[in-house]
Amino acid sequence: MTVESVKPAAVDAPELREPPLAGGGVPVLGHGLKLVRDPLAFMSRLREHGDVVRLKLGPKTVYAVTTPALTGAMALSTDYKIDGPLWESLEGLLGKEGVATANGPRHRRQRRTIQPAFRLDAIPAYGPIMEEEAHALTERWRGGETVDCTSESFRVAVRIAARCLLRGDFMDERAERLCVALATVFRGMYRRMVVPLGPLYRLPLPANREFNRALADLHLLVDEIVAERRASGQKPDDLLTALLAAKDENGDPIGEQEIHDQVVAILTPGSETVASTIMWLLQVLAEHPEHGDRVRAEVESVTGGRPVAFDDVRKLTHTNNVVVEAMRLRPAVWILTRRAVTDTELGGYRIPAGADIIYSPYAIQRDGKSYADNLEFDPDRWLPERAKDVPRYAMSPFSVGNRKCPSDHFSMAQLSLITAAVATAYRFEQVAGSNDTTRVGITLRPHSLLLKPVPR
Ligand code: HEM
Repeated sequence: MTVESVKPAAVDAPELREPPLAGGGVPVLGHGLKLVRDPLAFMSRLREHGDVVRLKLGPKTVYAVTTPALTGAMALSTDYKIDGPLWESLEGLLGKEGVATANGPRHRRQRRTIQPAFRLDAIPAYGPIMEEEAHALTERWRGGETVDCTSESFRVAVRIAARCLLRGDFMDERAERLCVALATVFRGMYRRMVVPLGPLYRLPLPANREFNRALADLHLLVDEIVAERRASGQKPDDLLTALLAAKDENGDPIGEQEIHDQVVAILTPGSETVASTIMWLLQVLAEHPEHGDRVRAEVESVTGGRPVAFDDVRKLTHTNNVVVEAMRLRPAVWILTRRAVTDTELGGYRIPAGADIIYSPYAIQRDGKSYADNLEFDPDRWLPERAKDVPRYAMSPFSVGNRKCPSDHFSMAQLSLITAAVATAYRFEQVAGSNDTTRVGITLRPHSLLLKPVPR
């Protein structure tokens, strides 16, 4: 079924039904406990209850959409906006004026400002930095020594985003500080989102102090980056220059707060998502060495033995398929929310104005109704003759519609390049103390992946 075949009914049509209540709720807490205890399993089972289902989270009713076609229809519809508890907590911490949380005309204007930096034809200019960072990673590692994949992945992701998009010599040292601040902020943010204890997070406990320090440092760093660029008088062709030159709806320069929030809104989603995906790619290379071998053989057939370069990436079909398959099974962004702005309908179900809606790319991308051998890691399912059988919107890790991630090309290029570089240099083995089970946070990543690189 495609989005085109999901014909919307008039919102007042009598045949519209109320979505069924998902089973398994308990008095008072409803489905909340299950969602908090094992969110991935909970979200993955919801399709058994219906295409759209109601959940009770305490006194609140939330709607969950469970099919690829309907998640695509919702993401493409103007009847929904970015909002809901997830975004409200993010706004409170990261600012209200950035592109990731804005809606309406401000959001459209902000997308127009940032889009050129992410266009397909803008990506090759980032090639040299991506190459440098990918190879620096393999050169830092020593055969036989343990690699802490969490900090290494975070480091390379932040450095690439910061160096490519906010260019400047000072970025190297700043990128390191950004890594530390963002890692702490993300950990604390997720806790605050799932366990909203309000005032308790203001108590002067060590964990709260650490979180507040990291958040303050993140905002300070962004202010420093903006101030230094202004003071330099330089205007390189990058995202920061575009943000500083942006005009609002009236043609006036945008305010300081918006510039600040925009930088935060680009750096934060840009680092945690890529870092988590790199961790899963390293985990995959350790768990499926045969794919590491295939990546290496493919890279060597293209490069003839020289270091892999940005321009090689588009020829690396298997490498790219390994990245896509890793993202299918372990999507960094595993849950998304929307809010209905009007009374509307989805798949024949009535959705009232103001309803909060959630859906899970993790559940959608692992669904046995969409994929044969759905839980198998099989990069060849992305070969053209097989990929055509995948239902539309069953693989949308960057989402679709007006909130689609602007960075899909930017991310895919760096992920493929990093995978090619590390798999060419090393095989990987997990070491004692490594824990590659899934840790659920704002993104999904392994709990604590420790690998031993074995030089090839
Ligand atoms: C939005 C995924 C990397 C910047 C999104 C959304 C998804 C996503 C699913 C849409 C959220 C929604 O529909 O509610 C990913 C994944 C990444 C990645 C899987 C890497 C593996 C990046 C990078 C950057 C970035 C590297 C920037 C450097 C953004 C921004 C938005 C966004 C600014 C908000 C767009 C808007 O609301 O208009 N991302 N992302 N992302 N992403 Fe990414």
